[in-house]
Amino acid sequence: MKVVLVGYMGCGKSVVARELAKRMGMKSLELDEIIEKKCQMPLTKIFETKGELYFRTLEHEIFKQLLNEEADGIISTGGGTPCYFNNHEFLQQNGIYSIYLKAPVEVLYQRLKKEKTKRPMIAKIHEEDLKEFIAKHLFERSNYYTKAKFTIAIAAKSPAEIVDELLNLL
Ligand code: S3P
Repeated sequence: MKVVLVGYMGCGKSVVARELAKRMGMKSLELDEIIEKKCQMPLTKIFETKGELYFRTLEHEIFKQLLNEEADGIISTGGGTPCYFNNHEFLQQNGIYSIYLKAPVEVLYQRLKKEKTKRPMIAKIHEEDLKEFIAKHLFERSNYYTKAKFTIAIAAKSPAEIVDELLNLL
């Protein structure tokens, strides 16, 4: 079984993937981490030195590979993964449980304002503009996220509560 978690930066994909993998006795695979290992540098450096297009191309190739592999796993994507190339089509693929972790703008803003520098897509946005940026960006990306087969509204739920809900769905 393959589970793919999608959603905006800060929605909790990585934490939920790790917790779900533990509870299901499966492997957790984090796309961003795999890219960083392959390039032997952090994401911020990849964006800085090679540019976003390079990152998106690699992200697409590795995402495809993970989905075509035999091995089962819980795949945690990056916030932009479903929004580039034809990546969103894979969310509909047979045998893939794709899940959108849908978070309100306020929750995302509260989390992301503390972690801006680690995230190249928002690193240069001033804090006073960040909430509006997130609202617009999320609106643009929602069409892709909602291609996932299931949506879980995360609101103020803890990772453990989200995982309980996911286990009922799968
Ligand atoms: C991105 C989100 C990041 C990472 C990269 C681009 C995006 O992942 O893939 O910085 O375009 O939203 P997280 O959602 O894990 O922060």
